[in-house]
Amino acid sequence: MSTPAILFVCLGNICRSPTAEGVFAHKAKKLGLNLKTDSAGTAGYHDGAAPDKRSQDVASARGYNLSRLKCRKVNAQDFVNYDFILGMDEANVRDLKRKCPEDYQHKIQLFLNFSVSEFNEVPDPYYGGKRGFELVLDLIEDASDGLITKLTS
Ligand code: 4NP
Repeated sequence: MSTPAILFVCLGNICRSPTAEGVFAHKAKKLGLNLKTDSAGTAGYHDGAAPDKRSQDVASARGYNLSRLKCRKVNAQDFVNYDFILGMDEANVRDLKRKCPEDYQHKIQLFLNFSVSEFNEVPDPYYGGKRGFELVLDLIEDASDGLITKLTS
């Protein structure tokens, strides 16, 4: 496959999808893989904001730096530009499919389809405590490894 482009999507683009982008890009870079990555939200509540401090803190404790990322909303060009458009939960996938032209629907799926965990979705941690952010990171690390295996095998 030639330089796959991967877009990670959640609701706000300040917790789960920037974490997914940061973790996946870090792992891919370490392996010397040439991949294009970005993240976006189905809502535009926090346009231009850096990731949530709680996401940055738990990521930083495991060696991932999310501070350069900036929140943005999914746009029509994303459906053309990205090969994999990966929603963190079922609502994200549903919202993406509603906006996406027929020709590109096949690009959209749940990120945790690449995970071996019993979870299907990355739960929204925004209104919860630190443990929720740790779980998000656990699930994202696992699915990132699975996606890298898929892209390199
Ligand atoms: P995310 O979490 O979708 O993982 O970025 C959320 C961030 C903000 C809000 C909801 C979820 N919010 O309602 O502002």
